[in-house]
Amino acid sequence: MTEKAWGGVFDEATDRRVEEFTESVSFDRRLYAHDIDASKAHAQMLAKVGLISQDDCRQIEQSLEEIRCEIEEDRFEFRIALEDVHMHIERALIEKIGDVGRKLHTARSRNDQVATDVRLWVREAIDRIDARLIELQRALVGRCDGDAGVILPGYTHTQRAQPVLAAHYWLAYCEKFERDRQRLADCRRRVNVSGLGTAALAGTSLPIDRDDTAARLGFEGVLANSLDASSDRDFLLEFAFVLTVVAEHLSTWAEEWILWSTIEFDFLKLPQAFCTGSSIMPQKVNPDVLELIRGKTARVVGNLQTLLVLVKGLPLAYNRDLQEDKPPVFDSYDTVAACLELAAPLVAGTELNRDAIAERLDRGHLDATTLMEHLIGHDVPQRTAHSIVGRLVRVAIDRGVRLSDLSLEEFRQAHEALDETVYDALGADHAVAAMTSYGSTGPEQVQHQVERWKQRLQV
Ligand code: ARG
Repeated sequence: MTEKAWGGVFDEATDRRVEEFTESVSFDRRLYAHDIDASKAHAQMLAKVGLISQDDCRQIEQSLEEIRCEIEEDRFEFRIALEDVHMHIERALIEKIGDVGRKLHTARSRNDQVATDVRLWVREAIDRIDARLIELQRALVGRCDGDAGVILPGYTHTQRAQPVLAAHYWLAYCEKFERDRQRLADCRRRVNVSGLGTAALAGTSLPIDRDDTAARLGFEGVLANSLDASSDRDFLLEFAFVLTVVAEHLSTWAEEWILWSTIEFDFLKLPQAFCTGSSIMPQKVNPDVLELIRGKTARVVGNLQTLLVLVKGLPLAYNRDLQEDKPPVFDSYDTVAACLELAAPLVAGTELNRDAIAERLDRGHLDATTLMEHLIGHDVPQRTAHSIVGRLVRVAIDRGVRLSDLSLEEFRQAHEALDETVYDALGADHAVAAMTSYGSTGPEQVQHQVERWKQRLQV
């Protein structure tokens, strides 16, 4: 019978099935480094306020470092009877230094301990995701010069709408991922606060210094209410939500490129190293990575749902339900990190099929809106201009030609203000060049944004 840290009041040994059911070390062992860091900070604080001696503290710190090595070198034995990573490390410490090790848990509970460890882990996870988002943004901005002057059909409702510069398209995703970075930074502010020392739920009668441990661990502040601190998992909901938005952005991009890489679109050539084949159809080169980025988004959405339902209806303060918070958060992080790692080289390594794209620009009357604005420039009311151009598009469709193929006579008949300058408004190049509003796809506007992004990302 393994001696439980909490075994004093118990007469019976724990049922094996209960040990299996309640253990978390199979998944929370990945918190070991954060647990050791937090324990060291806690021991240093205990020594500073005189609850343990400096010598105790040195022994604890040294033994914790030995344990860290043992775990990292795979020499550490994990067994479910010890429940979780916190009990494992504490038990190993006591095995090494006896009674001195038994002092570490002074003024601490696993409730504030686990919350602290998870906060430290999430803080690091946020920084890693942020670094990968920057890499992806750099890949996007890195496309802009090479694709300068390339025009793409822009879509609404998946129907051709207006032409846009390729660089404008790349930067659109750059903006989305920038907002994800802002959301991460905002979430990080609420992650990076300390609940260590709030103990089980009520705080402690011992003379601890919570600001001291917070400072040692790089936290920016301390939580003000022990009941709240030991039960708060808002920070995990926020992190899981931000990851979900990143995954949604990646998924819409993946969906777009899955379509664009079809023969029907033929806009893209994906790098073969990022495609896979078929075991029966020899000709196939499939966009499986993109499909999996789209597909794995489902589990990230599901994990957020799991967490929301998990905390719904939990009374204060700590409840063991909260142990279930870790698998979904770890999975969302692992999934989004893996998707981002593939997204950056895919963006960098994909070729635009310029000829196929250019050939399609002539279809779909992408210049109709610019023609309407040309009329507005001649003092025609917008609603009137809209219907005049609508009728001209009707004529072009019936004849199977472009708007620019209509004769000057036809334009004059449509509206007396139209003269030969109308042709300067027509065609994808002219339509793009006509755009001047801030944030539009006009060349000057886009160049301005490209420069801004290059400066910001130092590319
Ligand atoms: N392993 C638990 C968790 O992850 C922490 C332990 C708290 N357990 C307790 N009986 N108070 O939430």
